Amino acid sequence: MNVITCENYQETSRKAADIVIGQIKQKPTSVLGLATGSTPLGLYEYLSKAYQNGTVSFSDAITFNLDEYIGISHDHPQSYHYYMDRHFFSKVDIREENTHLPDNDEDRLDAIADEYNALLKENPIDLQILGIGSNGHIGFNEPGTPFGNETFITCLDEQTRKDNARFFGSLEEVPKKAITMGIKNIMRSERILLLANGKEKADAIHGMMHGEVTEDLPASVLQLHPDVTIIIDKQAAKKVSS
Ligand code: PGA
Repeated sequence: MNVITCENYQETSRKAADIVIGQIKQKPTSVLGLATGSTPLGLYEYLSKAYQNGTVSFSDAITFNLDEYIGISHDHPQSYHYYMDRHFFSKVDIREENTHLPDNDEDRLDAIADEYNALLKENPIDLQILGIGSNGHIGFNEPGTPFGNETFITCLDEQTRKDNARFFGSLEEVPKKAITMGIKNIMRSERILLLANGKEKADAIHGMMHGEVTEDLPASVLQLHPDVTIIIDKQAAKKVSS
């Protein structure tokens, strides 16, 4: 794993943006795997600014998001459809038909998962952006998820629901289920870029890099991927030996 330790959040976001911009410049038709949550907000801001000042265009890029909650509508302010639109898609020149998030229509979740897997096979991801949960999840692949899973319906870990309660009015309002790309989809990406900030992530980062590869800490699977870059701030890096 290639580790880049930064002074602060701004620097992690800027370095991540430089890598994404480099990828798009080198291959304008790149397929990007995208993440949500608080971590990549700065990255999306840098990318949006880079588009606005003419540095990069996303007009030929294709995107696939990792996951979506089940039980809230696409226009709910905490849905990832809403998040992506608000923080990235509406700010750049990406074509709507080139953006993909797993749908969360509860009447056809299995079919949606199959369709998402088929689309991912047709459009292999060149660069996958990841955050990491304080419990070591990537996407919504919670501890205990088999590494062999493709897109599937998952029950959110209690730790994840508590971590994400800050975005909702209360813990009760945090959905209990989600649809997520599986570890197998993530591991097929050509290149992976994982971002983490803050001391809450320090244990997960340490386990991911130096612990055993185990389904109990899903991000540890990244030790088996040939091209992973980790961009972290000093707080998230504080338990990592360099
Ligand atoms: P966060 O979430 O960016 O909001 O900390 C990361 C994650 O759960 O993967």
